[in-house]
Amino acid sequence: MSISPKTAQTPPATAVDLSVSLGRLRLPNPILVASGTFGYGREMAGFVDLSRLGGIVPKTITPLPRQGNVPWRTVETAAGLLNSIGLDNDGIDSFLVTLLPWLLACGAPVIVSIAGANQAEFVELARRLDGVAGIAAIELNISCPNVSHGVDLGSDPEACRRVVAGVREATRLPVLAKLTPNVTDIASVAKGARDGGADALTVINTCQGMAVDWRRRRPLLGNVIGGLSGPAIKPIALRCVHQVRQAVEIPIVGVGGIMTIDDCMEFFVAGATAVQVGTANFAEPVASMRLLDALPAALAELGVKSLADAVGSLVTPSRDPCPPAPGSPTHA
Ligand SMILES: Cc1cc2nc3c(=O)[nH]c(=O)nc-3n(C[C@H](O)[C@H](O)[C@H](O)COP(=O)(O)O)c2cc1C
Repeated sequence: MSISPKTAQTPPATAVDLSVSLGRLRLPNPILVASGTFGYGREMAGFVDLSRLGGIVPKTITPLPRQGNVPWRTVETAAGLLNSIGLDNDGIDSFLVTLLPWLLACGAPVIVSIAGANQAEFVELARRLDGVAGIAAIELNISCPNVSHGVDLGSDPEACRRVVAGVREATRLPVLAKLTPNVTDIASVAKGARDGGADALTVINTCQGMAVDWRRRRPLLGNVIGGLSGPAIKPIALRCVHQVRQAVEIPIVGVGGIMTIDDCMEFFVAGATAVQVGTANFAEPVASMRLLDALPAALAELGVKSLADAVGSLVTPSRDPCPPAPGSPTHA
C-alpha cells in the first residue's frame, strides 16, 4: 500500500464547524484514535498530522510496568483482528516523564487511558494525572479482556459506579468510562458509570474471541483467549451504542470496526457524538485523516448543518412485531 503523507496532511478547505462537546470536554472534531492502536503517537507522526485529530487516546497505562502476555499476541481473522496484548506498557512513572510531554506538544487533545487492578489503583492513577497540565481527559479502561480482573469493574453496574465515583473525586479532569461488550446488559453498566459521574462513555472495547490451529490442537494466542476488533465487531458496537443511547443521556464515543466514512455516520446516527478509529490504523495509518476529510460531505449528504443534528437521529421502526406491508390488506 502506498501512503502519501503530504496528501494526508493537507487540511481540506471547509467552513463546517466540526467541534463537539463530550460533557465538559470540548474537542475540535469527532474523529479520535483508539487506545492501543496508535501507540503513543510518535510512531504515527510521520504519516498523520496529529494536530488535526479530534483526540488521541494513547495505549493504556498502569501503575507499574507490565510485560503483557506471552506470544502470539495478535492473530488476523476474517474481517477482524484478535489481540491478547495484556496491557504491555512502561507504567505511569515512565509515561509521565518520557511519553506524555511529547504527546501534549503534538497539538491534539490527549485523553489518557488508565487501568488499575482494583478501584484503589484507578483512583491513585487519576490522582497523579490530576496535577498534570495539558491533559484533556481520562479514559477508564474497565473493559480489557486480556488481563485477569480486567473487566471486573466494568461488568457489574455497582462496581462500575463505585470506581467512576472514586476517580471523579480524585480528579477535576473529565472522565470517560470505556465499556465492554462482553456483558449481558450493557445499558445497566452504562447507568452505573453515569451515576458515578462519568462525563461520557466510550463504547466499546474488544469482544472476547479465540482462534485455533486444529492440526496442532493448539490455540493460536499464547493467552488462549483474546479480544476481537475490526469490521467483524461493528454491528455489535452499533448495537451497544444504540442500547447505551437509550439508557443514558451522557455523550457516547463510538468505537468498533470503523473503517469508512459510512461507518462513522452510522455511529453518529445511532447516537455517538464522536468516534474512535482503532484497528483501521494498523492497515492504514492515515485512516483517521481520510475520515476527517470525508466528514463535511457526508453531513451535507445527510442534509444537516451540524454534526449535532445527525447525532442520535436514528428513526426506529414501530414496535409492532409484524406491521402490515404498505398497501397490503389488513389481517382480521
Ligand atoms: C492491538 C490492540 C491493542 C489494544 N489495546 C487497548 C488498550 O490498551 N486499551 C484500551 O482501552 N483498548 C485497547 N484496545 C481496544 C481498542 O481501543 C478498541 O476499543 C477496539 O479495538 C475496537 O475498535 P476497532 O474495532 O476500531 O479496533 C486495543 C485494540 C487492539 C486491536
